Amino acid sequence: MIIRKVTSADTEQLTNLVREWIAGQTLFPPVDESFDFADLLRESDSLYYCVVAEDEEKKAMVGYALCTYNYAIWVGKSVMLENIFVKENYRRRGIGTRLLAAIHQHASEKGCLQVNFLTTNADKCEGFFKKIGARDLTDSEGWLMYTLSRENMIATEKYLPK
Ligand SMILES: CC(C)(COP(=O)(O)OP(=O)(O)OC[C@H]1O[C@@H](n2cnc3c(N)ncnc32)[C@H](O)[C@@H]1OP(=O)(O)O)[C@@H](O)C(=O)NCCC(=O)NCCS
Repeated sequence: MIIRKVTSADTEQLTNLVREWIAGQTLFPPVDESFDFADLLRESDSLYYCVVAEDEEKKAMVGYALCTYNYAIWVGKSVMLENIFVKENYRRRGIGTRLLAAIHQHASEKGCLQVNFLTTNADKCEGFFKKIGARDLTDSEGWLMYTLSRENMIATEKYLPK
């Protein structure tokens, strides 16, 4: 199994894997057929870092982990683990841990001091994150997660100087 940085040649396989992950999610709408990673891959070095797991024998991509760059005023540089996924029939073989280790290595090289991530109960991945020592801040620090849509963003334009 090879763990390596994603390249633009991986667009199709990565898109298929992301579709596979989304298909297993109840929080997301059905997969948009026009969805692909081509645009995102063009932004790779400034927006995010992505590693993939490749089965050398089968020449197939079987997992990925993607983090985005972040800056918190009280911590400094950090990364947000946006998503990690391993195909079902490849799980519990240490691939997820190796993907995460590659993200950690990259984050350290970039001077990032923390890895944060959001997950839902539906993901059932608590065991995985606990095994590597992650702390659940939901109750201990009372974090709440909010989002603002594009419409919300546009609605605040009236507060900008004319
Ligand atoms: C979470 C995920 C990436 C783990 O990948 P993986 O390759 O199976 O992980 P590993 O084999 O490296 O697991 C390492 C350890 O984590 C723990 N672990 C992993 N999956 C677990 C599970 N479903 N339940 C309990 N513990 C688990 C185990 O302690 C495991 O060690 P062990 O197999 O020696 O007992 C994979 O299950 C997945 O793709 N899930 C669906 C997507 C998802 O929920 N992603 C996270 C939210 S973005």
